[in-house]
Formats: sequence, structure tokens, C-alpha cells
Amino acid sequence: EKKITIAIDGHSSTGKSTVAKRLAKELGYVYVDTGAMYRAVTLYMMRKVFVSKDNFNKEAILRHLPFVDLEFKLNEETGNADMYMEGENVENEIRYMEVSEQVSRVSAIPEVRKKLVEEQQEMGKEKGVVMDGRDIGTVVFPDAELKIFMTASTEKRAQRRYDELKERGEDVSYEEVEKNVKKRDYLDSTREDSPLVKAEDAIEFDNSNMDLEEQFDKILKIVKDKI
Ligand code: C5P
Repeated sequence: EKKITIAIDGHSSTGKSTVAKRLAKELGYVYVDTGAMYRAVTLYMMRKVFVSKDNFNKEAILRHLPFVDLEFKLNEETGNADMYMEGENVENEIRYMEVSEQVSRVSAIPEVRKKLVEEQQEMGKEKGVVMDGRDIGTVVFPDAELKIFMTASTEKRAQRRYDELKERGEDVSYEEVEKNVKKRDYLDSTREDSPLVKAEDAIEFDNSNMDLEEQFDKILKIVKDKI
């Protein structure tokens, strides 16, 4: 069996990370959640230069960018890699609505992308990696052996995201979540640097009407054909 690079891209809350994580476990591959990296940079900027709805100072962000200190560390309990910022586990905090509301603005900054893309390329250089995000098949690993572009209806995606946040005890409304999902779709697809688009050679995978098992089985079959 040869080791390959698997790129999974798609809109917000398509369930990319759930499938990617499980796939990596099954194959013994490394899983990289690139969204967590953009979220962590965003949280860093919220803390250091007070990025918020009403405050977005690009110069200040650029000044602080070289000092962002991020690291994935294995969580022994879950077997997943958690995001750490300056030594603090921020895995939960980076998923808060406040961060979701700012992340697409921060991730549209070319310097931010350049820095994170370099780190992602480094993490995947040995192959044997499943990476999910928005630009993995187009920018980070354009030569990936397998590219999957996940889609699902907006309603399904917002519902899943809402259920997830509720389960974690966040006080949000469905409307608020749907609005955020749509807004991120729009910003991520229309930004100038590395917009979210399906790579020409990506396999489109609509999971609107599939449960997790079905998705996983189908994707595993596609993978097995490649290795
Ligand atoms: O994947 P997730 O929804 O956690 O990503 C959060 C945000 O990070 C996205 O809405 C997008 O703005 C940004 N992102 C990106 N490129 C990636 C992964 C995420 O711009 N490769």
C-alpha cells in the first residue's frame, strides 16, 4: 500500500472533519484540521488586537502575525489532536460563535494564508495525511492523489452545526447559526486569495441525505481504489 495525500474541501459544516478524522484513524494517517489553524489565529487576534465586529485593524494583525504560537497536541483521552495557543488548550474556544463570526475576515488576509499554508505543506510533506479545509486541493496540495469536495444543502449544514453547538451547551439560535454558515460560504467563496472552489480533479460528494456510516463507507471505497 502506498501512502497518499487526501484533500477534503467544501463549504462550512459539511461534516468534512468528522469523515476526515475517521478516515485518518482507519488508514493510520495524520489528520490536519486547517480550519482550526485559521480559527486559532483569529482567536489570537481577538485577544491581542481586539478584532471584533467593529474593530478590524489589518496593520495591527500583520504586526502580531509573526508571534502567533500554535501547536497541535495529541489528546490522550480522545486520540485527536487538540489546538494549543501559547501553551493553552483552545480546542473548544476556537469553535465559539464569536470566533466563527470573525474567522472569514482574518483568513482572507494573504499574509495569514501564506504563513498557514507553509505550515500545512510542511505537515503533509511525508504524505499519509488527510487534510480538510477550503483550499487544500487547489492551493496547499494541488498534486494530492485524492481530492474530495463535500457539499450538502445549507439547511442540513446549519442544522448539524446548530446541534453540535447546542450539545456543547452554547446558547445560540438556529437562525443565528444559519446566518453565520451562509455568510462564511459567501466570504470564503468570493475572497481574492484562494477562494473556496472545487478543484477540477476533485470528486464531488453530496452528503445531504447520508448518515455518517454511509458517507464513511463510500469514501473509504474511493480511497481503497487509489492506494
Ligand atoms: O473548517 P472550519 O469551518 O472550521 O473553518 C473556519 C474558517 O476558516 C472558514 O470559514 C474559512 O474562513 C477559514 N478557512 C480557510 N481555509 C482553510 C480552512 C479554513 O480559509 N483551508
